[in-house]
This record gives sequence, structure tokens and C-alpha cells, in this order.
Amino acid sequence: MRFLCVNCSHIYDEALWEETDGIEPGTGIDEISEDIHCPSCDGSFEDFSPIEDEVIYADDPHNLSHVEREHMPRIMHLDDQKVEACVGEEEEMHSSSEEHRVTAMYLVDEHGHIVEEVFIMAFEDPIAEFDISGLDDFEIRASCNMHGLWWTGLINVDQYHEEHDEDGDEES
Ligand SMILES: [Fe+2]
Repeated sequence: MRFLCVNCSHIYDEALWEETDGIEPGTGIDEISEDIHCPSCDGSFEDFSPIEDEVIYADDPHNLSHVEREHMPRIMHLDDQKVEACVGEEEEMHSSSEEHRVTAMYLVDEHGHIVEEVFIMAFEDPIAEFDISGLDDFEIRASCNMHGLWWTGLINVDQYHEEHDEDGDEES
């Protein structure tokens, strides 16, 4: 399991801990003594929040439940070079309090590999811009510290343009 330091965005991976701070690799976060601090910002380990690895997506994209509407990454702008996405609805994005917020947004390729990740700090709007040049298909994922990891599903750039550019162009 991975944990995010809410102070500085450092990621603690239980499976990959370095020995440098006197912690054996594979040590669970609960087993770390209180006098060891975040290697990046020196904050307390109590400020680490879990990063859920299970991917969640809406059963029916046209009929979202409240929690789905709140968490589904949404495309705000897309062109051949970049995509800008937010989490939740543009008028009402996901909460960004310290207790409950989106901690990171990811650009993922068609093979499920993370191409780019953007960390979102408390009180920042959950918005990220990614470089998609060279990708025909991509996904946006968003990780909420309470509700897990959510994704758009695979988006084809050309198809998106066909569906969203004025009236489409169905004759050709
Ligand atoms: Fe949430």
C-alpha cells in the first residue's frame, strides 16, 4: 500500500522503503515509530494518507450517482497537444479540505501505464493539465483520499473531437 504525505506530497510505499531512515523494507506504516519523520519534509507519519489502488468507474456514465458525479474526472479542454481535466463538475468540483480531497490526478496510456502525475494539495482545486502529444488514447484518473481511485475510461482523441466538436460530422 502507498501513502501520501499531505504536507509535501512525498509518497511512502510500504513495499519499497529504503533502509536509510532505519526502517526495514516492507515495514507497514503502522509499525513505524513516532520519532521517525517524513524523509522529504520532516512531517509526522500521522499526516500520511493512504492511496487507494483499486480503480473505480461509473457503471452508467449517463446516469451518475452523487458520489460518482463528485469523483469522476471530467475533460474541460482537449486538443492535440494537451488535456485539461477537473474532478467533479466544473461548477462544483470535489472537496479540497485537508480531511477530504483529491490527492493526485494521473494521465494513463492505453496500456494502463502512468504517463504523468500531478499532485493536488489541500485547498487547491482538483484541476490538472497533461501533455497528450503522441497519444491516440488516454485515461484520466483521480485519487480521493477517502473514496479511492476513479477514472474516465479510455478516451480516443479523434473520437472525442468527433463527438464534441460542433454537431459532429456524420456524413463523411
Ligand atoms: Fe471523495
